Amino acid sequence: MKTININKVRQDFLNLTAKVNDRQLIYLDNAATTLKPKCVVDRVAHYYLYENANIHRGVHSLSEQGTIAYENTRETIRSFIKAKHSHEVIFTKGTTDSINLVASSLGRQILKAGDEILLSTMEHHSNIVPWQIIAGQTGAKIVEVPINDAGEICMDTYQSLLGPKTKIVSIVHISNTLGTINPIKEMIQKAHEHGALFHVDAAQSVAHMPVDVQELDCDFLSFSGHKILGPTGTGILYGKEDLLNSMPPYQGGGDMIDVVTLKQTTYNSLPHKFEAGTPNIAGFIALKDAIDYIIELGFESISNQEHELLEYATAKLGSIEGLTIIGNAANKSSVISFVMDGVHPHDIGTLLDKMGIAVRTGHHCTQPLMEHFKITGTVRASFSFYNTKEEIDELTNAINKVKEFI
Ligand code: ALA
Repeated sequence: MKTININKVRQDFLNLTAKVNDRQLIYLDNAATTLKPKCVVDRVAHYYLYENANIHRGVHSLSEQGTIAYENTRETIRSFIKAKHSHEVIFTKGTTDSINLVASSLGRQILKAGDEILLSTMEHHSNIVPWQIIAGQTGAKIVEVPINDAGEICMDTYQSLLGPKTKIVSIVHISNTLGTINPIKEMIQKAHEHGALFHVDAAQSVAHMPVDVQELDCDFLSFSGHKILGPTGTGILYGKEDLLNSMPPYQGGGDMIDVVTLKQTTYNSLPHKFEAGTPNIAGFIALKDAIDYIIELGFESISNQEHELLEYATAKLGSIEGLTIIGNAANKSSVISFVMDGVHPHDIGTLLDKMGIAVRTGHHCTQPLMEHFKITGTVRASFSFYNTKEEIDELTNAINKVKEFI
């Protein structure tokens, strides 16, 4: 069994040496954003200190080198998600931006009044609101795919909701709040049987498991760089070539054009058609280092470590009296959301912070999910491969202290 060399790996994440409220930081908010290894931060700094130039524009050496480095990241991502072509990899600001792009551009292209967009109860707001906006503009309708009390998609109902009116299905691969790993491949196949297009919100999955867009046969897939060790402000939209080619541009501006006259404009080819303006150049250059870091560790080691942490934490936290874990899917990623009798999640989060433990509290941008469970929020501990069982022991002790205190 491949394992992580945890002591070596932790040295790459200098945040882990930080003190918060005079206590050693225990960072358990990886679903919000992962820590960044030193090589990624160094790469960003190196670009600004020694390589600063705009890309796709200049003939001077720094601009050419910057363009090559930037485009190398595209090829790294293509290979990482096994896309057929690198021009199917569109650079965006993050998952939210990717979903807004696909909802707006594809939605304008294919939706008409009465058409249906299927979304599940466990979607993040960023996979709800962009679809609501385009539905409002086109007369299309959002249809909810329900979940059961373990936090799993009701597959029978999903199948019964698919029909001739279904044009788009957009579902999260791994729930940011529950950790549920959805049977996305089967869902895509079912959607395609009804002629619907499928978008996967992979924000929480790409850092934890291999994602192969050709094997999944998804039409679109989105994720963020900052949740996979990379810089904030970097994101990916993968789309099948023919679909991306058929879609109108999302934003107008520099780089996305071919010829501009004041009467009309012709557009650049993929991927540039969807990349208006100067992007986060340093961020995308350094994203390659983040992906290379993940590849070097390997998903076998990563998932072994994270699975062990999940099992350990589920047993430890599950044995605390008065604590209820929300989300008990059979197939789960390393996220534990919980509520405690008589204590508000924000109070738990604030007290844990006093003890140096960073967790997220609240509705986690999934208010429909909160409504399903009839709660206002949870405390969420989300683990990464650099976390340890000792940190989970500290979390358990800290929660017990919170209980005593309150
Ligand atoms: N979507 C991120 C989270 O779940 C921000 O925390």
